[in-house]
Amino acid sequence: MRDEALEPADLYDRNMRVVDVGGGTGFCTLGIVKHVDAKNVTIIDQSPHQLAKAKKKEALKEFKD
Ligand SMILES: C[S@@+](CC[C@H](N)C(=O)[O-])C[C@H]1O[C@@H](n2cnc3c(N)ncnc32)[C@H](O)[C@@H]1O
Repeated sequence: MRDEALEPADLYDRNMRVVDVGGGTGFCTLGIVKHVDAKNVTIIDQSPHQLAKAKKKEALKEFKD
């Protein structure tokens, strides 16, 4: 379901720069980093607690917040 939801974003290049607004714990971001390098992904969220959970995910260790 996550992959289907991301299809309209047309993430076709690993060097794209992506902002995941309301990224929370990074569930959707895990789908984004299948297509885009994590270092090019920025997660914005109003909850530092949610972001702390995202930071613990190995696949997201290089994302920016
Ligand atoms: C339903 S959760 C979705 C989280 C994530 N996208 C996922 O795939 O699991 C919505 C998130 O939006 C964040 N949020 C809500 N209002 C916000 C705002 N005004 N600015 C930034 N983040 C916000 C919440 O803290 C929450 O983490």
